[in-house]
Amino acid sequence: MTTVLITGPTRGLGRAATLAMAARPEPPELVLVGRSGPRLTEVAGEARRLGARVHEIGCDLSSLADVRKAAAQARGMGVSVVVANAGTMSSDTRQASADGYELTFAVNYLAHAQLIGDLAGDLVAPGRIVLLGSNTYSANFWRRLLGVPEADWRDPIDLARPATGDQRPGFRASGVAYSNAKLAILYYAHELQRHVPAGINVAVFEPGWMPGTSLGRDTPEAFQAIGRGLARLPGVSTPRRSGPALASLALDARWAHLRDGAFVVKDRVTEVEPVARDRAREQRLRETTEELLQAV
Ligand SMILES: NC(=O)c1ccc[n+]([C@@H]2O[C@H](COP(=O)([O-])OP(=O)(O)OC[C@H]3O[C@@H](n4cnc5c(N)ncnc54)[C@H](OP(=O)(O)O)[C@@H]3O)[C@@H](O)[C@H]2O)c1
Repeated sequence: MTTVLITGPTRGLGRAATLAMAARPEPPELVLVGRSGPRLTEVAGEARRLGARVHEIGCDLSSLADVRKAAAQARGMGVSVVVANAGTMSSDTRQASADGYELTFAVNYLAHAQLIGDLAGDLVAPGRIVLLGSNTYSANFWRRLLGVPEADWRDPIDLARPATGDQRPGFRASGVAYSNAKLAILYYAHELQRHVPAGINVAVFEPGWMPGTSLGRDTPEAFQAIGRGLARLPGVSTPRRSGPALASLALDARWAHLRDGAFVVKDRVTEVEPVARDRAREQRLRETTEELLQAV
């Protein structure tokens, strides 16, 4: 039986993907890695009711000590698929993780690099690692129109440093930090494939814009209300639509060939923009990630 570890199963996309996997005729065994509390208990219970065998691992991804403990708990469970879904967009780039790293970079990227680094040698082949990307890493007409900031890449040591100062940096700074973290995921995916054991394939999933999830929970209530409204428009992505697509990418034979960080937008393999393929940046990210993870 396949065993899938998923982070961020408590809300939004991760919850929908978890329940879509649990509802399959032959559900995989599920290892749910999320912050301890009623949401984790509830989704685990729901997945069990649907027929899956479920393990819960309490973990706050903003603490690398917690992530290391979670990885130690998951080792030996026979995991063959990792879905690194958890994500956040901190509304204040001065916010730091427990380890002093900028929160958005720490949760979206560094925590998963630690978790996957600790588990990679233990994964059962053939296996898959599915990372969560976002098209916001690069601008297009619509994103410019909506004011969604694209990535503004800097050295990763710099990206990991929280902003300073008495004045709260604006929404743009949060968006840039989020897009940088998601560009880091693409660089990481390409580099990761060069280092994981044979038989483990790396892909990146972009669920489509899902306004109204809790990702924007720190933004002013007016923005969140607009998001909830937009989520009702036809054609806009929602966890209900994209969750099963993520479950499919994690489990279905039709995606077994994907590797090298193949970028799947909803259910279509898509070429990334040239900025997302940069061997020098990918290698530098790997070196600096080791430094950042070893420093704490
Ligand atoms: N929404 C979009 O339009 C969109 C578009 C492209 C990509 N994505 C990506 O899709 C993924 C899921 O996003 P979503 O929209 O479903 O967001 P969401 O509703 O906010 O869910 C985020 C999940 O991540 C978990 N998480 C956040 N910080 C954590 C921490 N410190 N420790 C442990 N877990 C933590 C949350 O757990 P708690 O319940 O404990 O908070 C929650 O389960 C993210 O990687 C996001 O970047 C989203």
